[in-house]
Amino acid sequence: MIPFTVAFHHATAHGVVTAVHIPDSPDPVPEGILGRLPREEQDFARESRGYRQVQFVGGRIALRLACEQLGAKPGALLPNDRGAAILPAGITGSISHKSTLAIAMAARAHQGILGIDLEDHGPPRLGIARKVLTPNELALIEQIPEQRRWIAVLLRFSMKEAIYKALDPYVRRYVGFHEAEVEPDLHGAAQVRLHLAQGEGPFIVDARYEWLFGRVLTSARIRPSTHDTLPQSTGTP
Ligand SMILES: CC(C)(COP(=O)(O)OP(=O)(O)OC[C@H]1O[C@@H](n2cnc3c(N)ncnc32)[C@H](O)[C@@H]1OP(=O)(O)O)[C@@H](O)C(=O)NCCC(=O)NCCS
Repeated sequence: MIPFTVAFHHATAHGVVTAVHIPDSPDPVPEGILGRLPREEQDFARESRGYRQVQFVGGRIALRLACEQLGAKPGALLPNDRGAAILPAGITGSISHKSTLAIAMAARAHQGILGIDLEDHGPPRLGIARKVLTPNELALIEQIPEQRRWIAVLLRFSMKEAIYKALDPYVRRYVGFHEAEVEPDLHGAAQVRLHLAQGEGPFIVDARYEWLFGRVLTSARIRPSTHDTLPQSTGTP
């Protein structure tokens, strides 16, 4: 696997996906790779160090390629003040990275803002359940067979992270894990109920998941159900 090359392209119900190999190492990104980024992205990347630099560069390469799959030719994809990549008008997109892979999804923004998350199945870490699940969700998890519990927790955790990223342009604040309840079905979709502590919304949330080579990729697409809650940053629909 050659670092910073395409691992795969993929299409989902929410958008086109590009994944890029990244090294699982904090070594500086080679100049030859940095030089391929637009000047402002290079400058931003040079200010980062270690894994952060590697992930930033991998994520930008992936997001640019995903945008290009839509026919868009974005300039520098710099972060906004909340940490999300700023996209060209009319495009929405999101980034996630795990040890050896940076992944990005892009879509036209008219159906809402996208957020994605990538998680390794990994060894079960059921200890996170109390932190990321609501009491209702915990009660549901306890009813399912023990060997399936980790997947049930992981899916909800990952979907909430995707929801967080899709919601952030609208609410522009930290949203806690207890402010959403997620009920995945067996077919890659989920019912989502938001209980936003500051009463923002209402929003229409469409959440999906799929397994990709032992990892779960989740995505959320969010739009206001009325027109008075417009996003303040990226990818205005
Ligand atoms: C912000 C957060 C979701 C990022 O997730 P993560 O698992 O740490 O990291 P990932 O690799 O999946 O994603 C990182 C990417 O998310 C994007 N991102 C960061 N902050 C963001 C924000 N506020 N809004 C949208 N996207 C954001 C960035 O593109 C970032 O990559 P980059 O810095 O290279 O551009 C996470 O750190 C967090 O704070 N989670 C707690 C809150 C939460 O999930 N609540 C659930 C509410 S329902």
